[in-house]
Amino acid sequence: MNDNNAPYVVSLKKDDEIYICQCGKTSNAPLCDGSHKGSEGRPLGYQATKDEELYVCGCGKSANMPWCDGSHK
Ligand code: FES
Repeated sequence: MNDNNAPYVVSLKKDDEIYICQCGKTSNAPLCDGSHKGSEGRPLGYQATKDEELYVCGCGKSANMPWCDGSHK
């Protein structure tokens, strides 16, 4: 989660691959930094099929984790 109660915007180019933190322990939100090791948490891998912007939930209220669904409003 972030302090702004707003989504993280992640800009990707086609074929970029990212790993989104699902455990909440990362110091590099919304991306995995390996802090899940030793726990049950695993990152979500995502590969862009085109140039795009992703909106990753930053407020913790989304019903469609890890994606923003507008619930922060
Ligand atoms: S640090 Fe959270 S899933 Fe890797």
